[in-house]
Amino acid sequence: MNPYWSQIARALSPYVPGEQPRIANLVKLNTNESPFGPSPRAIEAMQAAAADGLRLYPDPEAAELRQALAAHHGVKPEQVFVGNGSDEVIAHAFVALLKQPKPLLFPDVTYSFYPVWAQLFGLAFETVPLDDGMRLRVEDYRREAGSIVIANPNAPTGIALPRAEIARLLAEHRDVPVLVDEAYVDFGGESAVPLIADHPNLLVVQTMSKSRALAGLRVGYALGDAGLIEALGRVKDSFNSYPLGRIAQAGATASLRDDVYFRACCAKVAAAREAMTRALVKLGFVVLPSSANFVFASHPQRGGAELAAALRERAVLVRHFSKPRTAPWLRITVGTEDDIRRLIAAAADSLGA
Ligand SMILES: Cc1ncc(COP(=O)(O)O)c(C=O)c1O
Repeated sequence: MNPYWSQIARALSPYVPGEQPRIANLVKLNTNESPFGPSPRAIEAMQAAAADGLRLYPDPEAAELRQALAAHHGVKPEQVFVGNGSDEVIAHAFVALLKQPKPLLFPDVTYSFYPVWAQLFGLAFETVPLDDGMRLRVEDYRREAGSIVIANPNAPTGIALPRAEIARLLAEHRDVPVLVDEAYVDFGGESAVPLIADHPNLLVVQTMSKSRALAGLRVGYALGDAGLIEALGRVKDSFNSYPLGRIAQAGATASLRDDVYFRACCAKVAAAREAMTRALVKLGFVVLPSSANFVFASHPQRGGAELAAALRERAVLVRHFSKPRTAPWLRITVGTEDDIRRLIAAAADSLGA
């Protein structure tokens, strides 16, 4: 290990993002990106923003974008926080809200960045096992908690919890901050945003990376009581007061104003997910019911790592997580019709079907 590393750098076990390889003609179904482009209006706005104005710092408060987000979600601008991808927003929430004297709770199978932030920021945490069907049970959270974070729909399972269940979780944990990470909610989940009005402890985080096809722009945001948002602002302004550049603010704002395009893309992904699920089931895969832009699938005859490697040899990239509970499974992003056709052909070939 390099002698100049701090104790903090030495102790870290960083999150490992999905591969971004440069392989020609690859079917890339490993990082839940959109198979469609961003709204043409967003592209136009970004092109217009790529101009002389870039010599100036952006609006540190991203006022126009926050106003557009507030209007879109039916909240006030002071209930909106924006950041450089929802990863940054959630990281700030770990410091500003979730770090409490009692432990943070989250499912044993969920977004694998949560334990990484907990380690980086020194949060004590406990994982709560999903049930045998990989479902979250609200009653399992009846234990001592300083804070709670869940992804809904969950990742990598894709399973969504109905809003009524989130309301039940909130009712049982009125005294602690609860973060609901809704990175995939637009593909078929029920958002918890309507619960914000009655729950000053609820922070909902969403992203423009998936349903708005802007993963490359890095825009995420949080919605919640103005008191929670103020805490996020305090952390942001102690870390990087200009997290969103001018191009990102312009593109994200324009994307929000193109609701027709957004809804059409979400509907196409949801329809393709069902077609992909049916084709995988025909090949003998077990596929969990997904409300996201990916499915979690396993095959009784092949291990997850083996299948992921066989698909990779056939130029199809999917995500495999090697922890014991997730080892049999593959997380496969919903792609275009052509991507799905090639995935199914490669899977059939790998299985000798
Ligand atoms: C559950 C979940 N939350 C948050 C994120 C972060 O997304 P981004 O930082 O692109 O907004 C991801 C990305 O894959 C995710 O799967």
